Amino acid sequence: MSDPTTRRGTVIAFANQKGGVGKSTTAINLGAALAGMGERVLIIDADPQSNTTSGLGIDRRLVEHSIYDVFLGDKTLNEVIEPTSVRDLLVVPSSIDLAAIEIELVARFSRERQLAMAIEKLDDDFDLVFIDCPPSLGLITVNALTAADEVIIPIQAEYYALEGLSQLLRSINAIQTNLNPRLKIEGAVITMYDRRTTLAADVSQQVREHFGDRAYGTVIPRTVRLAEAPSFGEPIESFDPSSRGAVAYRALAHEFRRRHGRSA
Ligand SMILES: Nc1ncnc2c1ncn2[C@@H]1O[C@H](COP(=O)(O)OP(=O)(O)O)[C@@H](O)[C@H]1O
Ligand SMILES: [Mg+2]
Repeated sequence: MSDPTTRRGTVIAFANQKGGVGKSTTAINLGAALAGMGERVLIIDADPQSNTTSGLGIDRRLVEHSIYDVFLGDKTLNEVIEPTSVRDLLVVPSSIDLAAIEIELVARFSRERQLAMAIEKLDDDFDLVFIDCPPSLGLITVNALTAADEVIIPIQAEYYALEGLSQLLRSINAIQTNLNPRLKIEGAVITMYDRRTTLAADVSQQVREHFGDRAYGTVIPRTVRLAEAPSFGEPIESFDPSSRGAVAYRALAHEFRRRHGRSA
């Protein structure tokens, strides 16, 4: 530990330029499960759609300051952190203004490093800092991957699951070469798995061939309760702790902890 007073924790980006693959759902529910296991977790919502913000119970219309102000350098992360209903799970909200940031940062020095610099200054003992990326490979995702130690790629078990993956991997490679040599692909998580279809099994086979050990053994099932929880502003862990989705995200959290050398 270089600094005895605060630890930055491990920074993990949840990225996939495809929308609707389970990035936000995984950031929220893995984060909540890990918080329940004694980790202190910050989730940075870096998507202008603000699904993670609202999924954690924050009314996006009432957000005064958000990650947008942090990107502009007008606020520190500490100034915009909000609590959630889960102990040790905190969130940096997003807002729709963030959609303009890609243009607003164009002329700025170190525009790819705004988020990394903000996280460097974070003054709190987080074990984990999650960054929920938007569904694109634009400047926000570049900022997230430049700030991150690791990237987790959620992959929806559906027909075109692996489409676009090579583009994502090329982008990650370019970031490793040019901006952040520390970045590593921590893993891929299969989401919305429907065990009644053979397609889902095929997709998960392909993901395993592609990612080897880095594919998580835990697979997240498609369940109605997981889709319902965000409209109640709660992670599945508190919304319906005995549901299949909650069990799966707890299993994912145990696997995550084992992989990170934290006792599971
Ligand atoms: N395992 C799941 N079972 C059912 N619905 C899910 C599951 N995971 C995510 N969803 C729903 O699918 C939609 C897209 O998920 P989301 O996490 O927002 O994807 P992304 O952040 O990649 O765009 C949301 O409406 C979400 O509630
Ligand atoms: Mg999302």
